[in-house]
Amino acid sequence: MSALLEFDDVYYRYPGQDHYALEGLSVAFPEGENIALIGRNGAGKSTLFLHCNGLYQPNSGQVRFAGHPLKYDRPSLKSLRQHIGIVFQNADDQLFSASVAQDISFGPYNLGLSETEVRRQVHMAAELCGVVDMLERPTHALSGGEKARVALAGVLAMDPDLLISDELMANLDPWGRRRIFDIFHQLRRRGKTIVLATHDLNVVRRWSTYVVVMDGGRAAFAGTPDQLLADEATLEQTGLAQVWFDEV
Ligand SMILES: Nc1ncnc2c1ncn2[C@@H]1O[C@H](COP(=O)(O)OP(=O)(O)OP(=O)(O)O)[C@@H](O)[C@H]1O
Ligand SMILES: [Mg+2]
Repeated sequence: MSALLEFDDVYYRYPGQDHYALEGLSVAFPEGENIALIGRNGAGKSTLFLHCNGLYQPNSGQVRFAGHPLKYDRPSLKSLRQHIGIVFQNADDQLFSASVAQDISFGPYNLGLSETEVRRQVHMAAELCGVVDMLERPTHALSGGEKARVALAGVLAMDPDLLISDELMANLDPWGRRRIFDIFHQLRRRGKTIVLATHDLNVVRRWSTYVVVMDGGRAAFAGTPDQLLADEATLEQTGLAQVWFDEV
């Protein structure tokens, strides 16, 4: 299992805060897996994500993608963001163009692709996410579930190797969630790596092939769901024992 993305002893403190949001985080995200990132509120999941595409820079420690330490100059970040796509929990924050088509084409345009290539990428992503019939609609006139799929299409239009999703499905109904998982299944068949932050332990059990448990700004566990279920010490320490078995 080769690591696509690695954190090596990363510390990060938000300006003006007296505690570290990431406090010696070391973890590797293996390539080609469905990875669930879990951990209680404030454990550092979103902060971790904001380090993945170089939006935040560690105070100390290192983040590596495909074995290379991240560089934070503009050209390096641009190239990095072609490989790592992030969808945030609130799709509203991610959609800013007048129409769905414009929104989805923003990323590919920014990469400097030709008109023809942009159209091809937009069509591929719109098809994959089931939003072809919405392309001419204004983004503000979409439902929450539709917005989530459009935000996802906007990221997938750049054909990233790694898709990171920060609780994208938290506000979706079961049918909306089902559609997102259908998209994830197709991405897996294409060899993509997905990291999904979730509070839903059913997702861990039924979708993930690898789990990372964040606790107090560190990774308390990384391994398969079965390994986690068998690891009583970790389940106790992270408080998962109380919730995991209640919910079954
Ligand atoms: N913008 C910010 N400014 C200051 N502190 C922040 C900011 N965002 C997060 N933090 C702090 O950093 C720590 C990690 O927060 P983070 O948002 O990464 O957790 P999380 O695991 O994503 O939580 P949740 O499950 O609630 O989304 C917390 O202590 C939080 O209070
Ligand atoms: Mg969060």
